[in-house]
Parts: sequence; C-alpha cells; structure tokens
Amino acid sequence: MAHARIDRFEAGRRWTQDYELELPPQSTVLDLLFEIQQRLDQTLSFRYSCRNWMCGSCGMLVNGREQLACRTRLADLDAPAVQIAPLRNLPVVKDLIVDLAPFFEKWNAVGVAFPDQSQKPIANPQKTQQTIDAHSDCITCGLCYSACDVLSHASDFLGPAALNRAYTLQLDARDVAHQKRGATIAADGGVFRCHSMGQCTNVCPKGLDPLAAIAALKRGA
Ligand code: SF4
Ligand code: FES
Repeated sequence: MAHARIDRFEAGRRWTQDYELELPPQSTVLDLLFEIQQRLDQTLSFRYSCRNWMCGSCGMLVNGREQLACRTRLADLDAPAVQIAPLRNLPVVKDLIVDLAPFFEKWNAVGVAFPDQSQKPIANPQKTQQTIDAHSDCITCGLCYSACDVLSHASDFLGPAALNRAYTLQLDARDVAHQKRGATIAADGGVFRCHSMGQCTNVCPKGLDPLAAIAALKRGA
C-alpha cells in the first residue's frame, strides 16, 4: 500500500491531500500520480511528456528533494510515505504545475547569436568542444533552479541553468554575442551572486555540473 501526501493549490487555496492506493512493485512517482488521477481524483494536476527522463517536464519535490517523477521509483525512496510538492522558486499554477516563464526568461537573457556560417564554417578546438559538450545536455527541467538557495531570496539571479548555458556559449567560437553576454553575466543578477553551495549540481538528473560552469565564469573563462 502506497501512502502519498500531495501539496495542492487551486484558485489561491493551498492544502495537503492524502491518498492511499495499491501499486505494482517498481512503480515510479509518475505512475503513482497517474493512478491517483485515474482512480481517485481527476482534479489532481501535474505535467509530464516523455516519461523517459528526456523532456524535463515532470520535475517536482519528492520527499523534499528535486526529482524527475518519471525517474523516481517509490521503492528507492525508503520512506513510509511519499510527500510530493511543486518545484520551489517558481510561481505555482495549479497543484504540481509551476510557471517556468521566469526560468526561460533568464535562459533567453544569455541568448545565442551565431553568424551565417554558409561561407566560412568555424569549428571549436577539440578540447574546447569537449568542455562545451560536457555542459550541453540540459533538458531545462528547472530542478537546479528550484534547489538554488540564492534564488529563494534573490529572484533576479540568473540561476544555474542559464549560467551553465552561458558558459557553453562563451566558450563557443561560433557565437558572436560574447561581449553582450559577458556584461549580463557580470551584472547584478549574474554569476557573482552564486554562493557555491552546489545544490544545482547535486540535483541535476543529467549529471551536469552548473557549479563548475559558474566557477569557470567567475574566473573569466
Ligand atoms: S542544468 Fe540539469 S537540473 Fe538544471 S535545468 Fe538543466 S538538466 Fe535540469
Ligand atoms: S516525463 Fe519527460 S522527463 Fe519525466
């Protein structure tokens, strides 16, 4: 028997709702949410798409830690109950669905600007490309944004995902916005706000290391 405690939010009202249900072994948190929605409570809202750790849609807090629901098995939680809440540092729209607009505004603020390469292709040195590749598999899930302590009190901070993205672009010889982005990175909400707590790197489901990217940006890489 699975016992779930889920944070609910609708039309300005917040409450916690308990559910008890039987589930097959190896069920994930996303399976649990589907079962609740289909068998017990059609009003429960959550976001998902790929169900395969790829799209980044199903981020939420599971027993207080940022997780992808489709990747998290109940059996691995090792707890009598599963507590589920929406991601932090982002406005809640309904139940477990947050508004990712602030996250993507910051992602766009460090935006890419590649010139027309049809005449003269530009390649990065192999070592630089390897570093870029090591930081490039972000699925924009927002888990690091939720886990960031700085963002909990400084909402103008660009955050780990955008700065990790900025690092890859600053290294990339094909990008032509280094100067403008450099000013954004060094500005008030930029890289020097980071306290190097490392929660971003701890929660990243793709094994990226935004903390290392931020440290490199601070050194002027
Ligand atoms: S850096 Fe990792 S945790 Fe942050 S948004 Fe990208 S994939 Fe998610
Ligand atoms: S549903 Fe796509 S990452 Fe979980």
